[in-house]
Amino acid sequence: MKIIDMRSDTVTRPTPEMRRAMAEAPVGDDVYGDDPTVNQLEALGAQTLGKEAAVFVPSGVMGNQVSIMAWTSPGDEIILGANCHIVQHEAGAAGRLSGVNYAPVANPDDKIYPADVHRLVRPDDIHCPRTSLVCLENALGNGDVVSAAQMAETYRAAKEHGLPVHLDGARLFNAACALKVEARELAASADSVSLCLSKGLCSPVGALICGPKDFIAKARRCRKLIGGGMRQAGILAACGLISLTKMAARLKDDHDNAQYLGARLAEMAFLKVDADRIKINMVYWQPADPAFDASGLADYFKERGILINPADNGYFRLVTHNDVNRDDIDRLVAELKKFMG
Ligand SMILES: Cc1ncc(COP(=O)(O)O)c(C=O)c1O
Repeated sequence: MKIIDMRSDTVTRPTPEMRRAMAEAPVGDDVYGDDPTVNQLEALGAQTLGKEAAVFVPSGVMGNQVSIMAWTSPGDEIILGANCHIVQHEAGAAGRLSGVNYAPVANPDDKIYPADVHRLVRPDDIHCPRTSLVCLENALGNGDVVSAAQMAETYRAAKEHGLPVHLDGARLFNAACALKVEARELAASADSVSLCLSKGLCSPVGALICGPKDFIAKARRCRKLIGGGMRQAGILAACGLISLTKMAARLKDDHDNAQYLGARLAEMAFLKVDADRIKINMVYWQPADPAFDASGLADYFKERGILINPADNGYFRLVTHNDVNRDDIDRLVAELKKFMG
């Protein structure tokens, strides 16, 4: 029986083409700058996002943390969403590794608006930490996307205060696909961008930080400092090249499957799904009856070869990706009916 894994798009396996590319990749020692495949990936990443340079890092978390470290000094404060990945899911790394404080923005939609930036930038006062960075996220962890126009407004606000902007673009291509724009249009409203290759783009490992040359030089040093310098990393970068050249273009299939799943769920009276909220490959739903005990659902599914995460704040999240097709979705829906019905 096929295991259907809808916990996240991080579970995607490298494609057969990626496995072949790994076997054949020309490699060298990347810490010496000698790995031709890594160099090719970094050049392509920078070009794709319209930035001067890029550096390959092992994970999205490292992409964000190296960027924060490169933009800030210990004791600084950074403005970012209260629910963003950096705050909620990176083990407090920004405090521990870079010694920065958070100025969190807690809007109900998880977006950051110009007024938030203006309100939170600290005055030039010896009592205050120095505000040194604004971090945006797109796509957002809640499955929503931020339009290019909205990003540009917030970027302009940051620039009025002379602040750099980092974009956690773990799913930047999903956002671009949903908004029907090029990823570089969204990246234009950030100085640095961290882009994950190992989510919907199917690479087994890796992320790219893209940005100005001098910043990327600093980021390379920070990457080394936290042990992220890799040697024959071309084995991994070979997959990254396929992620950028082929897999980004197929994310629409995942989004269409998420819409299909949303429509199937919407047929069921015993649960609530806000189909308008489905923008990328994530579908959030909750039982219609708040008293219904769905705490056993993840275990029930697991016994039937379907993997999901337990509900978070009352919501279940299902994520479509390259290893999930419509038959899988139908199987999940049928099992869900049995459990809830
Ligand atoms: C928005 C966002 N940023 C960063 C990351 C970090 O990626 P990783 O856990 O692969 O390092 C994730 C992971 O899911 C994410 O969703």
